[in-house]
Amino acid sequence: MLKLERVTKIYHVGGEDFTALHEIDLEIEPGAFMSFVGPSGSGKTTLLNLIGGLDRPTSGEIVFNGVGLGAMARAELAALRREQIGFIFQSHNLLPVYSVYENVLFPLLLNKRREREVRDRVMHLVEFVGLGPQAKKKPSELSGGQCQRVAIARALVKDPQLVLADEPTANLDAENSYNILELMLNLNKKFKAAFIFSTHDEKVTRYIHREVRVEDGRILFDKRKNHRGELE
Ligand SMILES: Nc1ncnc2c1ncn2[C@@H]1O[C@H](COP(=O)(O)OP(=O)(O)O)[C@@H](O)[C@H]1O
Ligand SMILES: [Mg+2]
Repeated sequence: MLKLERVTKIYHVGGEDFTALHEIDLEIEPGAFMSFVGPSGSGKTTLLNLIGGLDRPTSGEIVFNGVGLGAMARAELAALRREQIGFIFQSHNLLPVYSVYENVLFPLLLNKRREREVRDRVMHLVEFVGLGPQAKKKPSELSGGQCQRVAIARALVKDPQLVLADEPTANLDAENSYNILELMLNLNKKFKAAFIFSTHDEKVTRYIHREVRVEDGRILFDKRKNHRGELE
């Protein structure tokens, strides 16, 4: 589904070049449930931004369903993001004046579909993430974990092929982190979307099917779960 070929990212800061990613090669299969794991500054967010078409590599190519992102015009890339990719940002980016229901509905209205047609799908997702009773509340009335659930429902409402989540458990305590990981795993099974997230949290390794360890912009190792459910 997704292929990174010798992807390099160089940032220019204050007249200096800084190489954040060094010739990354990676293949990701449909329905994957995987994480980039590494310390702060290792290049995880850069990887997710490039995969999601939010930024372009300095060299190398990212191929999504056989099409290179490099050759896409900005409008094409925007359409790909809108239609095929769900984003879960670190700072949820929920719209404060809207309710839980309206926040989850929001990406569909951008797609110009009418609310009447999608109301059931939106409510189904709100309920699936455990927020049925909170559907009419505003983000300011919710906990951090609940806001993260809204962001997850919103990312999935378009039925994307790919969901990208940058440190989805960063601001959560251990119990909420496990709940969010469990929820994402259930959504991965139910909706068949691939989940790629980033974390520096070792707790996630018991949930993911594949761990890509990154350090200083390089892949240190790439482990998959065996039939006993252990990463090897
Ligand atoms: N827009 C940017 N401009 C300059 N340097 C950046 C930019 N974004 C990230 N970096 C640098 O690239 C490296 C990797 O950053 P990042 O991908 O955010 O790492 P992580 O998400 O693993 O913490 C860091 O050293 C960071 O300072
Ligand atoms: Mg980051």
